[in-house]
Amino acid sequence: MSKKIINNPFRPVFPTPVGLITSIDVDGKPNIITLGEVAMVSLNPTRVSVGMRPATYSNGLVKKSGEFVVNFPTTDIVDKVDFCGTVSGRTTDKFKETGLTPEPAIYVKPPLIKECPVNLECKVIGILSLGSHDLFIGDVLVMHAEEDIIIDEDRGIIDPAKAKGLIFAMNSYWSFGEKIDVIRFTRK
Ligand SMILES: Cc1cc2nc3c(=O)[nH]c(=O)nc-3n(C[C@H](O)[C@H](O)[C@H](O)COP(=O)(O)O)c2cc1C
Repeated sequence: MSKKIINNPFRPVFPTPVGLITSIDVDGKPNIITLGEVAMVSLNPTRVSVGMRPATYSNGLVKKSGEFVVNFPTTDIVDKVDFCGTVSGRTTDKFKETGLTPEPAIYVKPPLIKECPVNLECKVIGILSLGSHDLFIGDVLVMHAEEDIIIDEDRGIIDPAKAKGLIFAMNSYWSFGEKIDVIRFTRK
């Protein structure tokens, strides 16, 4: 099998989880943006990154407030997820239009999305302008997880299959695949 050189790879790191990021404006009105650029960047302390283009409404809201929530949707609400990724909060109330339910967070002003089984409350600790996207680094203040997907509460471990996460790859939505093996690496 021979390989070809591809000089302009399209989003070559895949898959990634789909996240619904909630933010809030100065009047307290919440917005939702769908993102494929969601990643872990530190396990201890727990820190995540989200990549948002400067043109999005959410980018400015998060820059201003310094806070966001990462909500992980299930495959059941893919239509609502897609809607939040195709219209802007500048002109559309996405909570109203999708029927998704905002719930108060504990430490930050942007709301959790009730229909998402996992939510991460984040404070922005850094922003990098990298090109097409700005990378927001979020310190995870607390995670909310639905009871029936929790495996080990003390260690903060949830069952990825039960979370029914929506996966993003090559401009399509996918579901979580089958478990192949367990890792043998242990943290030192
Ligand atoms: C599956 C999916 C993934 C997306 N990923 C990103 C992303 O990682 N970064 C980004 O800036 N926009 C991404 N978008 C586009 C935004 O969600 C879209 O521009 C949205 O309408 C912006 O909303 P806002 O203006 O209310 O912030 C994605 C859209 C979809 C449907």
